[in-house]
Amino acid sequence: MSSPAAVRAICCIGAGYVGGPTMAVIADRCPHIQVTVVDLNAERIAAWNDPDLSQLPVYEPGLDAVVGRARGRNLHFSTQVEAAIAAADLVFISVNTPTKTRGLGAGQASDLKWVEASARTVARAARGHTIVVEKSTLPVRTAAVIQEILTAAQGEQAGSSFSVLSNPEFLAEGTAIEDLEQPDRVLIGGQDPAAVEALAEIYASWVPQERILRTNLWSSELSKLTANAFLAQRISSINGIAAFCEATGADVREVARAIGADSRIGPKFLQAGPGFGGSCFQKDILNLVYLCRHYGLEEVADYWEQVVALNRWQQQRIARLVITKLFGTVSGKRIGVLGFAFKADTNDTRESPAIRICQELLDEGAILQIVDPKVSERQITLDLGRPAGEGEGSWQQMSTVQQAAAGADALLLLTEWQQFAQIDWPAVAALMRRPAWLFDARAKADASAARAAGLQVWVVGEG
Ligand code: UDX
Ligand code: ADP
Repeated sequence: MSSPAAVRAICCIGAGYVGGPTMAVIADRCPHIQVTVVDLNAERIAAWNDPDLSQLPVYEPGLDAVVGRARGRNLHFSTQVEAAIAAADLVFISVNTPTKTRGLGAGQASDLKWVEASARTVARAARGHTIVVEKSTLPVRTAAVIQEILTAAQGEQAGSSFSVLSNPEFLAEGTAIEDLEQPDRVLIGGQDPAAVEALAEIYASWVPQERILRTNLWSSELSKLTANAFLAQRISSINGIAAFCEATGADVREVARAIGADSRIGPKFLQAGPGFGGSCFQKDILNLVYLCRHYGLEEVADYWEQVVALNRWQQQRIARLVITKLFGTVSGKRIGVLGFAFKADTNDTRESPAIRICQELLDEGAILQIVDPKVSERQITLDLGRPAGEGEGSWQQMSTVQQAAAGADALLLLTEWQQFAQIDWPAVAALMRRPAWLFDARAKADASAARAAGLQVWVVGEG
């Protein structure tokens, strides 16, 4: 099978948190390649084309500058899916793969509906030889499904041929541009060496060769699930130890520093918090669990499932702790919620711990005053399943910490936005009803300043 010697035109299906930033960086670093990002969602494409770069649909530090340099030159956003595929030598599939909500594997298996639809569109629209690259995180052996759909089309359409590659994206939100520009590694899995090298050549424009790893297809697919499972496992591990620290008088940050100094463990990803969120960790572990069960590996499945169970427990534990400390009831009490995104420096709320924690407090009758610098009221409405309102069991979005604190019995810090480290505690405490609490689930705020201002303070993992 022969592949084009050099890729000249790329199409990326899916203009989301992965497709948008990844293609922007490729276009920025490879001015000789035309990159078109397509999506069925016209509103999203319009936002990517907005002349005002602060209106891009994804918030990532540095993204506006990258898009500003490449857009209109060799970076395009379009709803013309088939035309962009037809013009491309290489197509990235970067669509959503959420957990299935019904049918076989519901609650665990990934829903490949959108991947399958994309493969069928590629099969229909592609011309000549096309390299098809899985970018979305997918269950192991999905490449075989894509290959089968494409092969069927090959029989129908004279002159079209395909090579399928796996090239998972390891970027983390909030640091996407940095991660893309200086990746620890780029992973390319595939069976067609010419296709593998054509994709490797694109990355080689800015990534050192020794960081471009080549593997077989299945290893590449499984490496992504495994990387996310290991990272999530570290968070559940430290969160479990945080609860133990609180019970025994130890301090989880001291413990994390002590164990992180062991070079075999390392210092990263040991920050105790309200539990991991984001679109990947839970979905990927549940998918791993599902696949392990499928292959009869019950003990392995149980082991990884516990990482998710502990994460849910941590979220519930924090919600209940707030209720307990506020004399066992939050009904009719105002609570200022600091942060709603699943981590700082993103507007993404998928699987944000704030969702479950806020829902539990709302169910108990709390009045939530939520402040987040990047998350919209529309998004919070979708996530909490109810519009903003007034009275018991309601929420409102506030634009400042002061507003969130007004008349509140407690502030609950859930996202580690830098601005929450710089709160003017005497001013904020004066607005609250006494006795007032600060619950800091990220250990981000200046706890001693809050205590000095008269608040009672709980910090995750502090005994
Ligand atoms: C993750 C992986 O890091 C990335 O490689 C993969 O491509 C996609 O999934 P992301 O979900 O964007 O990226 O963010 P990440 O920084 O990994 O954080 C995930 C969650 O873990 C967040 O809710 C974060 O607050 C939490 N976290 C992270 C902690 O609670 N403690 C830590 O020490 C690190
Ligand atoms: P991720 O975090 O993986 O990037 P997102 O949900 O942010 O996930 O983005 C996935 C995008 O893929 C969405 O904007 C969605 O509209 C788009 N998409 C899904 N299926 C198709 C399809 N068949 N053709 C084009 N775009 C699609």
